Amino acid sequence: MVFKSLAVLVAIASVVLATPMRRTACPNSKHTAVNAACCSWFDVLDDMQDLFDDGDCGEDAHSSLRIAFHDAIGFSTKGGKGGGADGSIIANGDLELQFAANNGIDDIATPLKALADKHGKTYGDIIQFGAAVAVADCPGGARLQFLAGRPNATLMTPDGTVPDPFDTVDAILDRMADAGFSSDELIALLSSHTIAAADKIDVTIPGTPFDSTPGTFDTQVFIEVLLNAIHIPGAGLMEGEVKAPLVGEMRLQSDFELSRDSRTACTWQSFANNPNLMRQKFSAAMAKLAVLGQNVKNLIDCSEVIPIPKANNVPPFLPAGKHQSDIAASCKATPFPSLPVQPGPQQTVAPVPPADGSDS
Ligand code: HEM
Repeated sequence: MVFKSLAVLVAIASVVLATPMRRTACPNSKHTAVNAACCSWFDVLDDMQDLFDDGDCGEDAHSSLRIAFHDAIGFSTKGGKGGGADGSIIANGDLELQFAANNGIDDIATPLKALADKHGKTYGDIIQFGAAVAVADCPGGARLQFLAGRPNATLMTPDGTVPDPFDTVDAILDRMADAGFSSDELIALLSSHTIAAADKIDVTIPGTPFDSTPGTFDTQVFIEVLLNAIHIPGAGLMEGEVKAPLVGEMRLQSDFELSRDSRTACTWQSFANNPNLMRQKFSAAMAKLAVLGQNVKNLIDCSEVIPIPKANNVPPFLPAGKHQSDIAASCKATPFPSLPVQPGPQQTVAPVPPADGSDS
């Protein structure tokens, strides 16, 4: 009798699983959606991909991920700061974009504002949507959750909520804890620095990347920040910058210290040879970041609009000319994994081209 009921249950479950979810044709569009309320996001997606130069994981995509952090992290679990992922960095852009930690963000805030206004979306939604599309556009990227329906910002975020690269590890961890993030979640979020470059740390060398593959959502940043460093990419070391291991690469002081601090070194190292783990932990931390200060019950899940990320088939490596002995292994509990060395002579890392094709 028990077996019979079990067999019936299994049969029902397999029918349910095999039945494709019913999709609705979106009006005036080539797209279909499971949730018709998400249809309008496909139109935004088309424009967003135009902004991102048809998904090349370049400067605009990178900046879209950065603004998502800077908008949301204003939140404080103790209250008294900003409203979290609410778009206030655009709504109150005339003030918030003047904060030193937001230097350069106006370049992406302006086109995102235009996109939101064109499509009747809130700034909080457009920012988190842009970040999810950006990550999907980078080979090896994660398919982030996207929830829509954030109301317009009601609070202005005060200055001093975004960590600076010259902050101590204590100060960075305190700020992140105040916003509700553990040290492990911070390191997971810093996977973002694998698709990143600095324009404003040293303005004489804009677009200087934090790893040798800024167009790929790989684990290289977790490897290369641990390499012993010998180069200064510009004319001299700027505030928040330390020496880098490769010509043309930039290393943030904060990344350097977090990779070597006993509280964060093992989590940092755990991602070096494990892209799946990195993607999984990054996605979880981003899902939390994207709804800071929001009532999730009022949001609708439009993750189906986020493109399926392209794969990255290059396994983690040591850059050409480097050796395992160049790694400053900092996790006391586990040895640094053995990695293949990229063939060929030592390379110079090329800058990320500016979004508008100019050098300014
Ligand atoms: C300890 C925390 C962090 C510090 C101190 C930090 C600092 C910085 C700095 C100084 C830059 C270079 C800005 C410039 O000169 O143009 C940068 C770039 C970037 N950051 Fe962070 N960051 C942190 C965490 C994060 C997080 C959590 C995210 C995303 C979830 C993020 C995403 C990015 C991206 C994508 C860029 C590259 C932007 C571009 O290339 O246009 N960062 N970060």
